[in-house]
Amino acid sequence: MAEASKTASLTIDGQTYELPIHTPTVGPDVVDIRKLYGQANVFTYDPGFTSTAACDSEITYIDGDAGILLHRGYPIDQLAEKSHFLEVCYLLLYGELPTADQLEDFEHRVTQHTMLHEQMAFFFRGFRRDAHPMAVMVGVVGAMSAFYHDSTDITDPWQREVASIRLIAKMPTIAAWAYKYTIGQPFVYPRNDLDYASNFLRMCFSVPAEDYQVNPILSRAMDRIFTLHADHEQNASTSTVRLASSSGANPFACIAAGIACLWGPAHGGANQACLEMLEEIGTVERIPEFIARAKDKNDPFRLMGFGHRVYKNFDPRAKVMKQSADEVLELLGIGDNPKLQVAKELEKQALNDPYFAEKKLFPNVDFYSGIILEAMGFPTSMFTPIFALARTVGWISQWKEQISDPQLKIGRPRQLYQGMTERDYIDVENR
Ligand code: CMC
Repeated sequence: MAEASKTASLTIDGQTYELPIHTPTVGPDVVDIRKLYGQANVFTYDPGFTSTAACDSEITYIDGDAGILLHRGYPIDQLAEKSHFLEVCYLLLYGELPTADQLEDFEHRVTQHTMLHEQMAFFFRGFRRDAHPMAVMVGVVGAMSAFYHDSTDITDPWQREVASIRLIAKMPTIAAWAYKYTIGQPFVYPRNDLDYASNFLRMCFSVPAEDYQVNPILSRAMDRIFTLHADHEQNASTSTVRLASSSGANPFACIAAGIACLWGPAHGGANQACLEMLEEIGTVERIPEFIARAKDKNDPFRLMGFGHRVYKNFDPRAKVMKQSADEVLELLGIGDNPKLQVAKELEKQALNDPYFAEKKLFPNVDFYSGIILEAMGFPTSMFTPIFALARTVGWISQWKEQISDPQLKIGRPRQLYQGMTERDYIDVENR
């Protein structure tokens, strides 16, 4: 980190403290409070980390007001249009777009690791049939540390690299098998002659009695969904991965922690919740009723797929996703899909409503993704696993960046204690 060129002054009880200000390559300045507690005996208070940078990073930049998302400097819309998921994985992991040779080598390495240890099939079978695929993924990814001992030593760069490739390569197989298990169909093994997205679609939809013919337009749409979800700076699941990794935990444990966090409906679970909401709304006539509920402070209902902690203008991923939804549904001959019609009208009415405008609430990436995934044949329970599959590269890139940082410290937030002060224990008969 470069030497701070500016300082901020903080005065507490007449005593002034100078706090260094760091200037990023782009984005707002950051006040460095690391020495504040030692010097002034105060903590800062920021539940939800709304104003706190927890690390420095070179991977992803978001300007929420301008609706900008850059991976290693490249805008997401350019990557979604011109690149493809494995190339974006390389970019996130290594910092630059690959040359043709580097890309070929990377794709080869990922392809060579798509199979799971055969014993893992038994591990899947230990779950109940009706388990949510996210529950299965948390368990199976966590269990990878029991199967791949040769890639758990985080101090060895070679092992870190192998763990990264393994996770990116095996996640589609794990997600597809989690799905197959819950519907009672046999596991489909990966095929190395298929690209990443086509292979995943085939592992989900092929059965021994009938092979699945991958439609290149659907495979392209799947790849784009992966690309749009690949990384998103220090969101809740990424921060969870970083916090877990700060203790020196192995990579599989850290990614399992990220998957568990992603599952929540305020985060990755929103795509499932959004489609269920569109289903519940059912017809455009009922939209005003749901908008009224979303605005009612006494009703916990929120418009799922709407709003974002960082984007306060528009979510650039949502634009590409909406276009993809139109293309895919058109291709499948279901352009008049009732959920798409409800979604479009809901978006229109919400954007014209002062409540949503004042609070800067816009459709996010999850608003249209569920419609595409459903049209492809995925049940809602698979939406968040697909998000997890795609986000794995982001988690790994952030994990690698963190553990390569010589300044790495275990994460340990402080608190504003509001509990009892010290008191004496009372024997049970006297309480
Ligand atoms: N519908 C209705 N009102 C909303 C919504 C919504 N979807 N989102 C926020 N608000 C209101 C909220 O009630 C609050 O109002 P007030 O200031 O009067 O109390 C105000 O807007 C600010 O909300 P917040 O919860 O303080 O904002 P946040 O930055 O903490 O939350 C969010 C961001 C994404 C969790 C939230 O907008 C939300 O719950 N959205 C629905 C779930 C969703 O779509 N999540 C996916 C996020 S994108 C993918 C991902 O990151 O995984």
